[in-house]
Amino acid sequence: MSWWSEFANRIERDTPLGRHTWYRLGGPARYLFRPRDAEDLASLLTRAKHEDIPVKVLGSGANVLISDDGFDGVVVRLDNDAFCTTTRRGTSLEVGAGVDLMPLARRCSEQGLSGLECLAGIPATVGGAVRMNAGGRFGEFGTVVREIEVLRTDGGVETWPHDRIGFQYRRSDLGDGIVLSAQLELVEDDPDRVKRTFDDMLKYKERSQPLADRSAGCVFKNPVGQSAGALIDQAGLKGARYGKAQVSRRHANFIVAEHGATASDVLHLIDLIRERVRNVFGTELETEIEIWKPVRARRRDE
Ligand code: FAD
Ligand code: EPU
Repeated sequence: MSWWSEFANRIERDTPLGRHTWYRLGGPARYLFRPRDAEDLASLLTRAKHEDIPVKVLGSGANVLISDDGFDGVVVRLDNDAFCTTTRRGTSLEVGAGVDLMPLARRCSEQGLSGLECLAGIPATVGGAVRMNAGGRFGEFGTVVREIEVLRTDGGVETWPHDRIGFQYRRSDLGDGIVLSAQLELVEDDPDRVKRTFDDMLKYKERSQPLADRSAGCVFKNPVGQSAGALIDQAGLKGARYGKAQVSRRHANFIVAEHGATASDVLHLIDLIRERVRNVFGTELETEIEIWKPVRARRRDE
């Protein structure tokens, strides 16, 4: 019996991860697990910890670059019904970690519920948006998150109020915690006005970013007081390529993947950009996207 037998009908083996990411890049996950519910996930975490097998959660894969060698551990996807429900009570929303945020933000804006318009054009699940505090110049997701339910790696569940989550620019203090659900507090407003704001923000993104191309959004965080995109642009790198990866001509902080690209192409281009921006401006760029590297040698016993 292998360690994962009790999860067998929810586990896929050696599954290509590219199809689960916006980049469409990356090798296989040794195990891809779709838990039935939080208890099921807690059992898996306990077993994996015992076996010393790393576990990562993948949301909609919009902020990750997965290595061509894949991930030698368990990748969890919270796409079963138990994680994808939305319940509205007045201006409060209880949303599962697997809920797709963009359609939710659109629906809320149509119903005159304000607070999620800043997510127009940002692909994300609730879990991924909490971890990354997704947003931009128009606002951040953390602002509307009142509390979250978190599963710890030892299987315990806790409720974290807003202040404990530690929302900052494109990060939070979740650590190893897995978001199970979030409670959002929105504000009632005129539906026409909220919808117009949503549409304006979406238009801004469509005009200034290559939303139809394969990417993971902005590759680098903005250094304090500066725009990484503007720096890369001024360093003359728009259109620069490595293999089939290219610095977007529309927004220089996006690296887009063309047909036939590999994760390695994108990684090389990231190095090239950092080096050029360091040489030209003396600024060290820090990646915003999360790079998944293979973490452990394959076990031969399974
Ligand atoms: P993933 O990319 O799947 O994961 C991101 C991180 O969250 C990983 O560490 C993952 O392990 C973790 N995670 C996922 N689910 C959970 C969970 N349940 N519990 C704990 N951790 C979890 N981002 C912005 O902020 N602003 C933008 O304007 C923006 N524009 C974008 C435009 C495009 C075209 C694309 C492709 C991306 C853009 N991004 C933007 C990046 C991305 O949309 C955000 O980072 C988003 O929050 C990622 O959510 P996700 O569900 O895809 O998370
Ligand atoms: N700019 C250039 N050249 C470029 C790109 C931008 O000169 O190639 C200039 C713009 O003209 C503008 C300034 O840089 O004057 C800022 O550009 P923009 O408004 O596009 O904002 P940004 O700082 O580049 C941030 C977020 C985006 C978010 C937008 C809009 C980061 C790293 N990026 O971009 O988030 O969508 O604001 O809210 O914080 C993401 O995080 O993945 C992401 C795409």
